[in-house]
Amino acid sequence: MSSNWGNHLKLSVFGESHGGGIGAVLDGLPAGEPVDMEELSRFLARRAPGKDRTSTPRKEADLPEILSGVLGGVTCGTPVGILIRNTDTRSGDYGAMQALARPGHADYTGFLRYGGYNDVRGGGHFSGRLTAPLAAAGGIAKQILAHRGITVGAHLLRAGGVSDVPFDPAGIDEETLLVPGNSPFPVLDTDAGDAMRAEIERARLDLDSVGGVVECMVIGFPAGVGDPMFGGVENVLASILFGIPACKGVEFGAGFAAAEMRGSENNDPFRAREGRVYTETNNHGGALGGISSGMPILVRAAFKPTPSIAREQRTVDYRTNIEAVLAVKGRHDPCLAVRAVPCVEAAVSLALLDLLLGAPSGKGADTSWN
Ligand SMILES: Cc1cc2nc3c(=O)[nH]c(=O)nc-3n(C[C@H](O)[C@H](O)[C@H](O)COP(=O)(O)O)c2cc1C
Repeated sequence: MSSNWGNHLKLSVFGESHGGGIGAVLDGLPAGEPVDMEELSRFLARRAPGKDRTSTPRKEADLPEILSGVLGGVTCGTPVGILIRNTDTRSGDYGAMQALARPGHADYTGFLRYGGYNDVRGGGHFSGRLTAPLAAAGGIAKQILAHRGITVGAHLLRAGGVSDVPFDPAGIDEETLLVPGNSPFPVLDTDAGDAMRAEIERARLDLDSVGGVVECMVIGFPAGVGDPMFGGVENVLASILFGIPACKGVEFGAGFAAAEMRGSENNDPFRAREGRVYTETNNHGGALGGISSGMPILVRAAFKPTPSIAREQRTVDYRTNIEAVLAVKGRHDPCLAVRAVPCVEAAVSLALLDLLLGAPSGKGADTSWN
């Protein structure tokens, strides 16, 4: 199973939802980087379930044990081993549907791939729970970027047909960028957040689920990082964002809307101020030719509605190929996109740190000429 990622960083994620625990090994971090464990726990708490009705009532402390690679609150430069023990498992919920493929989930394809030997309890290795170690590793990367003046923030842009105020593509101040992450519900506009919650609750009561879009912006990322063709900023970001379960689309800057524009509308005019080049608008989303431009990096990730729903759906028993009807039991997120917000921040942080570590100077180009 390819649960490994990275070019200059090496991330490996292991574990099953209802096994002993889940975790990650993150290799390639520079030595001597401070890691604030309290800040990391606060970050992971944003992903943890059970806070309100928009997420599964399953309660996981999600406390990461750092087994190696960090000593005295500082990275050693050796692999960082992260373990999160599973504490609130109810495998009985899965007994009746062991061979009934949940529509939209990976039960059927996992059976095909592993011949029935994979642990299906709670979705096994395909569970959204595997984003906890991703978030832990990414939370460390996020702190390392912050020490370099790079801030990563995200919000729930859309859910259940309701939109939050979008980030201004040309850039926002750090304080605003961090508002959603410091809020009980990850949006800028609390009225929009309340309307989203109402839609999510409506779907839950309807034995259903809704999808959503997470928008992430990075400010302070240096220009001149990334490579053309296959090693670009977009390539590296997309490769890890699609590793988040249920992510079905990724777009940068104006994204799919650029296809509807004229060149004169989509091009971002270059300007210069105080000896520095910038662009007036940011339809390009912070990368041109795969190389960072110095403008904010703007990426959106679309998440599908949670596949496990309590409503009856047609399926087959994949061991007998006999048709059946399934109403999924267990505790599931009515809108997984809410908890995907910090996962996106984590994935983006890992991708950008990976790119920075691969930059010839290790810090990007100098865009000033004074
Ligand atoms: C944070 C998060 C939480 C999730 N929670 C659930 C859940 O409660 N129930 C469920 O069926 N799927 C959940 N998923 C999605 C499944 O893991 C995912 O749809 C499944 O593995 C199939 O993968 P795919 O959608 O990428 O094809 C969650 C995903 C994320 C990112």
